[in-house]
Parts: sequence; C-alpha cells; structure tokens
Amino acid sequence: MRFTFKFFFFLFFIGIIAIQFIEVDRTNPPVTAEVKAPAEVKTILKNSCYDCHSNETKWPWYSYVAPVSWYIENDVKTGREVLNFSEWENLTSKEQAKKKDKIWEEISEDEMPTNGYIFLHPTAKLELLQKNTIKKWLDNSSNIFSY
Ligand code: HEC
Repeated sequence: MRFTFKFFFFLFFIGIIAIQFIEVDRTNPPVTAEVKAPAEVKTILKNSCYDCHSNETKWPWYSYVAPVSWYIENDVKTGREVLNFSEWENLTSKEQAKKKDKIWEEISEDEMPTNGYIFLHPTAKLELLQKNTIKKWLDNSSNIFSY
C-alpha cells in the first residue's frame, strides 16, 4: 500500500516535470495598427482586454507553469484571432462596426472579461461607469455603414 502510493506520487511528480518541457508560444507580435480611441477608453481596454485581445500581452509567472500555461496560451490565441486591438485599424469601417456591436454585446452581458480572468485580475471587472465610457466611444465613432 505504502509502496503503491509512493510509486504513484513519484510518477505524478515526474509527469509534472516532464510537461514543463512542452513548448508554449508566448510571443507578442509587433503592434501594427493599434486602435485609435480616447485615452480614458484605451485605459479601460488596456486594463481589462489587452492581455487576450492585443499583441501586448503581459505574461504572468503562472503562464510559465504547465498545465496552466496551455490554458492561457489558448485563451490569448483565440482572443487575438477574434479581436485584436493592436491590429484594429487594419479592419474596414464595416468590420469595425460589426466588432463594435459584438464588444457591446459581450460587455453589457458581463461575458467579457472572462470569469477566470476576473478571478485572477479583480480590477479588470468593468464597473457601470466604465461600461458607459466604452459605450459612448462605440456609439460616437462613425457607424454609417449598414449591414
Ligand atoms: C482571458 C482572456 C480574455 C480577456 C481578458 C478578454 N477576452 Fe474577449 N474573448 C476571449 C476569448 C478566448 C474569446 C473567444 C471565445 C469566446 O467568444 O468566448 C473572446 C471573445 C470576445 C469577443 C467576440 C468576438 C467575435 O467576433 O466573436 C468580443 C467582442 C470580446 N471578446 C471582447 C472583449 C472585451 C471588450 C474585453 C475587455 C473588456 C475582453 N474581451 C477581455 C478572451 C478574453
């Protein structure tokens, strides 16, 4: 019994060490066309969204520890694919308008930032005032294309 437990623990320990050697992509590509927004909007986006939706991700220490690192890598990868504020100005006005609708949808329903992210970064949770600031920006910037 003692032997089995020790042996199991040993295998587990070896496994944890072994998975640390699997490579994780933590690169931050260059910022080519960052979103142009008023300073107060940018501050909110940077504090609550940029870690997953920009090329300026701050990689915390636990993003270097597998298996947590795999989870974070995946979040950043898909996050950048669907919405990247570092490449925002490359989108056409029509594409931007569509993304803006999505942004409001996610924010107003408290879907973004994700719950896991808020757990680790409590100040990223959007307060009503911050949501209003974003909403004003979303509404004011030209939205003349219908789709
Ligand atoms: C922890 C990482 C993370 C953070 C922080 C985060 N997001 Fe996301 N976001 C994702 C991921 C992953 C997806 C894609 C999967 C999904 O929709 O859940 C996504 C999807 C979205 C989408 C949908 C895009 C589309 O076209 O379908 C919008 C809009 C969005 N996020 C906006 C935001 C905004 C605005 C913030 C900040 C207030 C934010 N997100 C913060 C990870 C994040």
